[in-house]
Amino acid sequence: MCGIVGVLGKHEAAPILVEALKRLEYRGYDSAGIATVNGGSLGRRRAVGKLVNLSDLLVHDPLPGKSGIGHTRWATHGAPTVSNAHPHRAGPVAVVHNGIVENYRELRTELAEHGIGFETETDTETVALMAEHYLKSGLPPVEAAYKTIDRLVGAFALAFLFDGEDDLIVAARKGSPLAIGHGDGEMFVGSDAIALAPLTDRITYLEEGDRAVVTRTSLEIRNEAGELANRETRKIKVDHSRADKAGHKHFMAKEIAEQPIVVAEAIRSYLPSAGDQVVLPGDLDFTKLDRLTMVACGTAFYACLTAKYWFEQLARIPVEVDIASEFRYREPPIPERTMALFVSQSGETADTLAALRYCDGKADKVVSVVNVPESSIARESDIALPIHAGVEIGVASTKAFTCQLSVLLMLALKAAADRGTLSDEELADHAAALRGLPSVLNTALDQNRAIRKSAQRLSEARDVLFLGRGLMYPLAMEGALKLKEISYIHAEGYASGELKHGPIALIDKHMPVVVLAPRDTVFDKTVSNMQEVMARKGKVILVSDDDGIAEAEDGVWSTIRMPHVHPSLAPILYSVPAQLLAYHTAVAKGTDVDQPRNLAKSVTVE
Ligand code: F6R
Repeated sequence: MCGIVGVLGKHEAAPILVEALKRLEYRGYDSAGIATVNGGSLGRRRAVGKLVNLSDLLVHDPLPGKSGIGHTRWATHGAPTVSNAHPHRAGPVAVVHNGIVENYRELRTELAEHGIGFETETDTETVALMAEHYLKSGLPPVEAAYKTIDRLVGAFALAFLFDGEDDLIVAARKGSPLAIGHGDGEMFVGSDAIALAPLTDRITYLEEGDRAVVTRTSLEIRNEAGELANRETRKIKVDHSRADKAGHKHFMAKEIAEQPIVVAEAIRSYLPSAGDQVVLPGDLDFTKLDRLTMVACGTAFYACLTAKYWFEQLARIPVEVDIASEFRYREPPIPERTMALFVSQSGETADTLAALRYCDGKADKVVSVVNVPESSIARESDIALPIHAGVEIGVASTKAFTCQLSVLLMLALKAAADRGTLSDEELADHAAALRGLPSVLNTALDQNRAIRKSAQRLSEARDVLFLGRGLMYPLAMEGALKLKEISYIHAEGYASGELKHGPIALIDKHMPVVVLAPRDTVFDKTVSNMQEVMARKGKVILVSDDDGIAEAEDGVWSTIRMPHVHPSLAPILYSVPAQLLAYHTAVAKGTDVDQPRNLAKSVTVE
């Protein structure tokens, strides 16, 4: 997490840095800061909280200079205070950092032995002090920075700025992405290309272990071994329209409402209008594969859990699903004929990327499902399948989840077609249902008012349970995650059949229970579990279709009515009420919906 930017420009750097940081605020918003070099002299401004606080500070206390670096922070080491905010400065050097320096205690001890004191609790201050130490020993700035980088263990993207050096940024990447943007007599540095989008579309991505000397007119990259390295400069296409809520109160509301459009785009790109065949970019033949290992974090992990049902039921291929932070250290065996599949909205999640690297060379195919085609995970996969959700700004994932589900379902259909496990009629049925999905998503969105009413009641709860069976079970967990992350209400998702093995002890008249239950083959079972909740005075919110509600609404607290849909597509459709319930509950509680406390959109530390 944390976002970093740098500019060696023709104009004042501060407004450019702040504008670029705005585009990186999704990476953290605990504090922000910038440093510039003006007439050779280094200055900095920092503020706690959202970026707007830094902008306000700069109005009263401007920071001139055409060269600078900036940072938006998600606190790892040390509380979000001004002194812990980046850039960190030690004498003539300022540093911004994304990642974690794992050996910083060791380095602090070494610096302390040289009589060097510390002002902060951060790992990053150690980097600045180490660079200053090497400068004092007589090394020129670039060598001092490189020697410092060589001493660091962990994951980092770094940018160094030096007093007296108006035309120099030293940058480095290890574990955290870093992009260099080429302007016309200007150069930029950013955690991603999105940050640099209004400035340039010509981007060079640093590779693992790379370090770079950036000036207004040149870029010299060296690999970890210190050899000169040639990295491609690409012209990239990025969405400029980040800041527009299109009339909605929150980005999350806009992104929920966009789902019929973006899901249609995702479907169109893999299921062309002629025929019922799923067409993938790249060569993927499921007859050559015996199993799938799927790895992800958070909401993307729940998308994988849902896909397990699809791959196993439709394509009869065994699937293991794992949380990336567990998978990466467990050293699981990867048998022959395994496809490793990684799902990530950002494509930069540190644990997912590490899991992918573990599988590289072991799995037959490394495939990713991503929203950012230029991301590290996409670039390091054999095949990257974009989900076409467009930029997602709300920290709680919504449209990316339904687009991930849509792409994963189409991948499962491709597997079923390759392996001959579904008939042509069944494949055609699925294709027709997918093409009709945007329209049923619109009908689900029409239930907004009824959902808001139920959410009003939820907002008074201390704990909430979500229940689902079969394809609705992963969604129950996703619904609970959505609710807790933006409303701060404790929520858990359970397989409804699991209720009586423990969680039923929690049920009393204060406990709302959201039951996700389309009228499918397991509906009667779920309704039995719902009756067990109501017999103990639990307050049931039943989300179902006309038939389901007609059959089971007696005694429930409230109902949310969904249109009928092909059973395979129900998790995509029922995501809408799960998301809207969380959204309206958070709005009723007055929490910060788009930037909930303690979270960041892109988790680039483990
Ligand atoms: C929750 C949410 C997170 C992410 C998770 C993985 O709403 O967004 O749980 O799903 O941090 O992120 P990506 O998909 O970028 O790898």
